Amino acid sequence: MPPLVVEACRLPTPVLRRAADAGQIVLRSWADEHTHAPFADRAWLLRSVRGASAFVGILPTPVDTALLDAAGPSLRVVSTMSVGVDHIDVGAARARGVRVGHTPQVLDGAVADLTLALALAVTRRMLEGERVVRAGAWPGRPWNPLDFVGPALTGKTIGFFGFGGIAQTVVSRLLPFRPARIVYTVSQPRALDLGAPAFRTLAADPYIQLFYEKHRALPLPIENVSRDALAREADIVIVLASLNAHTRHVVDASFLAAMKPSAYLVNVARGPLVDTAALVDALHAQQIAGAALDVVEGEPDISAVHPLLAPELADRVVVMPHIGSATREAREAMADVCAQNALGGIGIGAMPAEI
Ligand code: GLV
Repeated sequence: MPPLVVEACRLPTPVLRRAADAGQIVLRSWADEHTHAPFADRAWLLRSVRGASAFVGILPTPVDTALLDAAGPSLRVVSTMSVGVDHIDVGAARARGVRVGHTPQVLDGAVADLTLALALAVTRRMLEGERVVRAGAWPGRPWNPLDFVGPALTGKTIGFFGFGGIAQTVVSRLLPFRPARIVYTVSQPRALDLGAPAFRTLAADPYIQLFYEKHRALPLPIENVSRDALAREADIVIVLASLNAHTRHVVDASFLAAMKPSAYLVNVARGPLVDTAALVDALHAQQIAGAALDVVEGEPDISAVHPLLAPELADRVVVMPHIGSATREAREAMADVCAQNALGGIGIGAMPAEI
């Protein structure tokens, strides 16, 4: 009997189905049994995963000890269609000899694009403007030199909380905007060295390479700073760190209080990196100018009366429903990597991206 692969939601890739058609695996998919709901409920998962060799999941599906135990000793790999693995108990998987795959790099460009879109949307007050037009209020607001005015990115200090592949891709995208300076904070202080593997995304940027070869310098200063300096100096703080016990609420009341009143917060990583109650307070107290969030603590259970959506904050807060990687290209590439990780973990090819 070929190994059983259990899929919690239909991946936008034919890779697993081809393997099933070729008789290499038996594929059990929530999507084949339930056309009405996009991803598996917990009871189905706990039942269906029994005896599986590979489990393929997505973000809303926690992979905890109960799921690992339900699968039993046959389980060899857990593969998630996400770069983040905070929904997986990686330690418990490792302790059972289960490999874990994820989908880094292939989504960097898509998330970087959305990061820039959010930074522009909140600083250039785009949603506020759109609301005015849709409400039919434009006739009462003829063009006026100071209406809808916000800061330019040019000449500003852009700060990154976390400086992995996605953040470095944002830097590449930011270069044409001519920011004055990039500052970043990482868990272990790490000065920028384009030769170091941690900076390979930036080092691979052809413009950075050319500029560096020609001038023996970077096109703009990029500095590792302390968390406090990041809060104090950045005009836009972009949160792009992974979520773990050390990073939960890294953006807390003290961080927000240290930010400039003219500064903006952009979170495109995980909601719990930011203390939402503290952010709401900071916005009401005008401690910061605004926030653009693709992720929110407690998502997707964010109702219309969530404090971040308070009408008095509407013009300074942009909230998106976690769409950072949602380009067709990125999602298909993530699905391919995820499917290959699942197959690689059971010996059909190699795992392209193992944690
Ligand atoms: C999305 O948030 C991901 O981790 O891929």
